[in-house]
Amino acid sequence: MKIRLVRDGDYAAIARLRKQTIRNVNSKDYSEKIIQNWLSMRSAQDFRKSADECKRWVAIENEKIIGFCEHNFECEVSRIYVHKNYLRKGVGSRLLEVAEASLEKLGCKEIRIESTITAKDFYKIRGYRVTKKTTFKEDGTTIFKMLKKLS
Ligand SMILES: CC(C)(COP(=O)(O)OP(=O)(O)OC[C@H]1O[C@@H](n2cnc3c(N)ncnc32)[C@H](O)[C@@H]1OP(=O)(O)O)[C@@H](O)C(=O)NCCC(=O)NCCS
Repeated sequence: MKIRLVRDGDYAAIARLRKQTIRNVNSKDYSEKIIQNWLSMRSAQDFRKSADECKRWVAIENEKIIGFCEHNFECEVSRIYVHKNYLRKGVGSRLLEVAEASLEKLGCKEIRIESTITAKDFYKIRGYRVTKKTTFKEDGTTIFKMLKKLS
């Protein structure tokens, strides 16, 4: 597997991967209504438009994108998704390491994330602790605010 920065031609693939992962992986933890809402967001064009607001990487295996990750410029890992057929093979960890190293270089002393229920234990193992559990009134979505201090 190799990790590289996202390229303009990758956006359709990462938008598709995000949707597949939400449908097949996050759907175990969230209601159908929430899943449908997430699926209605984030087209390839939306990813392209936000290119200047974040730094984004893709994981590649056999020339296929199998995961992606991004951080914003406020010391926050904002997204990480791995394709359902490549879970628990270290892809998410490799992507997170790259994003963390990049944030450290930018001078971040701690890293924040808003985790899904699905990813909470993954982040815990990677040194993050829950600072707040939030359930949004509008649709009942639960997320966990998590934090890792960099040494
Ligand atoms: C969270 C996610 C990115 C993890 O990716 P991954 O490539 O499977 O993670 P890794 O293989 O690097 O896992 C490293 C360790 O984290 C832990 N871990 C990973 N996924 C886990 C899960 N679902 N439940 C419990 N522990 C988990 C395990 O200890 C794992 O090591 P092990 O497989 O040797 O036991 C992936 O599950 C995913 O895409 N989830 C859906 C999208 C999502 O919710 N993203 C987060 C948005 S904030």
